[in-house]
Amino acid sequence: MPYDLVVIGSGPGGYVCAIRAAQLGLKVAVVEKDKTFGGTCLNVGCIPSKALLHASHLYEAAGHEFEALGIKVGALKLDLARMMKFKDEGVEGNVKGVEFLLNKNKIETYLGRGRIIGPGKVEVSAGNGKTQTLATKAIVIATGSGVAQLPGVTIDEKRVVSSTGALELAKVPDRLLVVGAGVIGLELGSVWRRLGAKVEVVEFLDRILPGMDNEVARQFQRIQEKQGIQFRLAAKVTGIDAKGKTLKVSVEPAAGGKSEILEADVVLVAIGRVPYSEGLGLKEAGVAQDNKGRVFVNAEFRTNVSEIYAIGDVIAGPMLAHKAMDEGVAVAEIIAKQAGHVNYDAIPNVIYTFPEVASIGKTEEELKAAGVSYRVGKFPFMASGRAKVNRTTEGFVKILADAASDRVLGVHIIGADAGTLIAEAAIAMEFGAASEDIARTCHAHPTLAEAVKEAALAVDKRPIHL
Ligand code: FAD
Ligand code: NAI
Repeated sequence: MPYDLVVIGSGPGGYVCAIRAAQLGLKVAVVEKDKTFGGTCLNVGCIPSKALLHASHLYEAAGHEFEALGIKVGALKLDLARMMKFKDEGVEGNVKGVEFLLNKNKIETYLGRGRIIGPGKVEVSAGNGKTQTLATKAIVIATGSGVAQLPGVTIDEKRVVSSTGALELAKVPDRLLVVGAGVIGLELGSVWRRLGAKVEVVEFLDRILPGMDNEVARQFQRIQEKQGIQFRLAAKVTGIDAKGKTLKVSVEPAAGGKSEILEADVVLVAIGRVPYSEGLGLKEAGVAQDNKGRVFVNAEFRTNVSEIYAIGDVIAGPMLAHKAMDEGVAVAEIIAKQAGHVNYDAIPNVIYTFPEVASIGKTEEELKAAGVSYRVGKFPFMASGRAKVNRTTEGFVKILADAASDRVLGVHIIGADAGTLIAEAAIAMEFGAASEDIARTCHAHPTLAEAVKEAALAVDKRPIHL
């Protein structure tokens, strides 16, 4: 029995699981079908998108904001090829970092497609026709997710692109049409708008960012519109004619009705992601999947087949890198007979636009639906000294606390650095804090984090700076 654990997939779920298992003394192998480690997140997801968000934000700031701060930069010029190289260097650094960590932890790696061929047996097929079989006590499936397809629309990754193609366009499109006002649509829509594209987003629902607190989504939409992104809500794309020089996109009301043609140079299809388990041999191995194709697991990440586990985007729950990582740690600990656990009530969710949007816990709509009485504390960045001096006054912090116990139930932030600020809320919620606990915690001045303290004070109607 050469391995205690074989992990299939080296994304944030898989590589973190492998490292934690190795720390716990297990003999571990990782199988990866792509040329590099790190999965969607490092290669075509979190990391390259954040690199382009960072660079395009600075580009826009240099063009529109620097002068007011007394910084003159002369005529602004975009070198898109260099910006793409900057992004690729960031990806390379991170991907190599994962390889280094796998080696450092003495995890054996196999490049090739993994297939479960029986209990404790994973066959690895390298591209060159060579196969080998790994024997193991336990298997963790961490094969992630792929792009959800729009029926009748072919993604060529040149003009009709998924997020992967949108991360490497060779030229700024004059008109970018985005299908789906979710996280990818708004992040990558922002990148290309900042670089000069006219961006229109077609969304099936009558709101953007489904699942996000309504007040946050509404205000965020207004901010995006002010920045120049147009939204066409309650509408659906029914087809794309790609024969001519420009794409002709058929759009009709979501409820049905008269179709309209919109012209675009590039269309980004961003209508969600689907679990990926192609060629993994799940059916043959008898591993059960749910009606959405996700691998079905119990609270300990066990599938219905003994010693086969699954984590990350390929199972239910938010498709987020940090959720996959925490599940990776938990399942490794469970396999090593420890008490691994993930608290699904305290998983932050961040949209890395400018301003950022970050949330954790329940939305007002969820609390209302559950009949929970709650108090709201809100503090606008307009009233924060640091935000004022930085000229990043858009947005607010909103804290929802249980009306009886004052326990923090949800925190929602729009603002510069919201993604970093939400960590404080995550700690508070993990420790079962009351809003009073945050309010009585000393926060450094002048920081944007003071807005979190003020929102906590506002729950009890006693903010100081409002
Ligand atoms: P993946 O990262 O998808 O990794 C799965 C790996 O398994 C892949 O490397 C794949 O090649 C490999 N694999 C699949 N099948 C086999 C097989 N049979 N044999 C061998 N290997 C196999 N999340 C965030 O939290 N923050 C963000 O900012 C963020 N930004 C994103 C931006 C974009 C554009 C996209 C597309 C996603 C983003 N996400 C973000 C989501 C995040 O990337 C995923 O939630 C995360 O990668 C899931 O991790 P995973 O380990 O489950 O799967
Ligand atoms: P999403 O689920 O966030 O949003 C998809 C949007 O498309 C929804 O608003 C949905 O109503 C809409 N939609 C669905 N079908 C449609 C149709 N036919 N026509 C028009 N609109 C339609 O999915 P997205 O943006 O593709 O991202 C996939 C996942 O990747 C996210 O759910 C998230 O988990 C992850 N991700 C996370 C990021 C982060 O954490 N910052 C960044 C990017 C992706």
